[in-house]
Amino acid sequence: MSANDPIDDKITSGYHHSYWNDSTAPLEYNTLDSDTIADVLIVGGGIAGLTTAYCLSKSGRRVILLEDGYLGSGETGRTTAQITYALDDRYYDLERFFGEEKSKLAAQSHKQAIEWINSVVTIEDIDCHFNRVDGYLFTDPSDKEENLDKEFDAARRAELPVDLVKYIPGLPQSKKRRALRFPNQAQFHIMKYLKGLADAIITMGGKIYTNSHADSIDKTGAKANGYTIRANHIVMATNTPVNDIVTMHTKQFAYRTYVIAAKVPKGILPYAMWWDTGNQNSKWVAKPYHYVRLEPLDKNFDLLISGGEDHKTGQADQENSTEEQRYENLIVWTKEHFPYFDDIEYKWSGQVMEPVDSLAFIGKNPGDDNIYIITGDSGNGMTHGTLGGLIIHDIIMGNPNEYSNLYDPSRITLPTGIDYLKEVGNMTYVMAKDWLSSGNVKEVNDLPAGKGVVISKGLNKIAVYKDTDGTIHSCSGVCPHLGGVLQWNDDEKSFDCPLHGSRFTAFGTVINGPAISDLKKSV
Ligand SMILES: Cc1cc2nc3c(=O)[nH]c(=O)nc-3n(C[C@H](O)[C@H](O)[C@H](O)COP(=O)(O)OP(=O)(O)OC[C@H]3O[C@@H](n4cnc5c(N)ncnc54)[C@H](O)[C@@H]3O)c2cc1C
Ligand code: FES
Repeated sequence: MSANDPIDDKITSGYHHSYWNDSTAPLEYNTLDSDTIADVLIVGGGIAGLTTAYCLSKSGRRVILLEDGYLGSGETGRTTAQITYALDDRYYDLERFFGEEKSKLAAQSHKQAIEWINSVVTIEDIDCHFNRVDGYLFTDPSDKEENLDKEFDAARRAELPVDLVKYIPGLPQSKKRRALRFPNQAQFHIMKYLKGLADAIITMGGKIYTNSHADSIDKTGAKANGYTIRANHIVMATNTPVNDIVTMHTKQFAYRTYVIAAKVPKGILPYAMWWDTGNQNSKWVAKPYHYVRLEPLDKNFDLLISGGEDHKTGQADQENSTEEQRYENLIVWTKEHFPYFDDIEYKWSGQVMEPVDSLAFIGKNPGDDNIYIITGDSGNGMTHGTLGGLIIHDIIMGNPNEYSNLYDPSRITLPTGIDYLKEVGNMTYVMAKDWLSSGNVKEVNDLPAGKGVVISKGLNKIAVYKDTDGTIHSCSGVCPHLGGVLQWNDDEKSFDCPLHGSRFTAFGTVINGPAISDLKKSV
């Protein structure tokens, strides 16, 4: 991190810190400082990477995990940590994309992931506030009430133990409405869970290195800090693949999502999870929905955590609502549904990769034999990330896995054609629009301290940031991945790419792939 850079990317990928980051010590381990050999190299220290490392260590494989920040410094540390099989896309859509049998398989895989997390918490005795809770799904006013019945029927066909209820615990009587109750879901404190996994991995002989950025990744291994790691298998648990330039980035799309959290007196709300079905009038393919849960805080208070207001990364302006205004919208919605919600203690945003057909991509990277990816988690990364570890463990160990075909990154899902065309059309549109427009030098003169802007200079685009001392820092405003024009995100103090979600700090350090390099300094 450069002095004065508002983002400490070792800790987290944005200016705001999540409650999870804030309530735990950084998970820092040794830095890689010699050449080394392993059976499996895992790149990425979020839930996907640590679960993979845990499973393979348990089966006696020598694993090395490299994380370029501290553990949980990616999107895992910015989650809301609901562990659920009430997926953020509907089961009736899964049936449309994959058919009834595969929808059932998807449902059962997420159910199994919850049980697996539960058993690991018990076996490893991880104190992470793991708690089984019910979840309630109700219709957004823009959605048709009959869609709740449709989802009920599809979830039942997927053999999930779901009920239709006429009352939602925690919501005021005035909000009395029908909901689907998904019983026995789960929640936890994600950073405490990661610490528990990491402790177990190390006890089993696995090696974890933080502050160790993997580069030159190929089928023989990778380099980090100038040292070579040789491995038989390489698992890219980097949230979005950084080893693949194009293929996977045409199958998933980056969205930003927002979270606020406030104290509520203990006992006023039950421990539960609440979701609406999302704004069907939204222009985005992935319809933004609200997601709420309660986390135990102290003797007197719980923390009510509410999320939503998503938009495609780098494109908040397309709805005339800036990144920061998203929190205001979220406060209004949350107070309307949870009147006890008062002073905001925390706010943060994060990035989710939305796969075009709703399911994550887990397995061999297309075209590779021993390089694996876990990506496309959408808003279900706790279970998708866990499934990632379980499935990749089985592929590497040569064990059959009933879910591996369903999640295969090489799959083609034809019925998603219209949504796919919309997402691709959006990319073409923003690429053209952003190359033709941008701020100008005058805007730099007027730039307040602590803010950034992307300007045109001749044929070039320059990303300019004025730090809190008033010093100007300039980098290329063009994404090194595939040439998207970056957008300043004033909320998280980053330059974000609207094409595939790469993000950079105000000083140009890459914080989210698929870009693998920092922005070039500009004079
Ligand atoms: C606001 C928000 C709320 C969410 N809520 C939920 C929820 O309630 N339930 C749910 O199931 N999901 C939720 N999700 C989704 C879920 O949090 C994510 O999908 C999941 O945490 C992703 O985990 P991961 O391990 O794949 O990625 P990450 O946690 O991003 O881990 C990838 C890691 O790889 C590291 N890395 C990248 N490149 C390199 C390199 N070259 N060398 C070394 N390290 C590298 C990064 O530093 C990072 O730490 C939410 C997401 C957000 C943003
Ligand atoms: S992330 Fe692909 S062009 Fe920027």
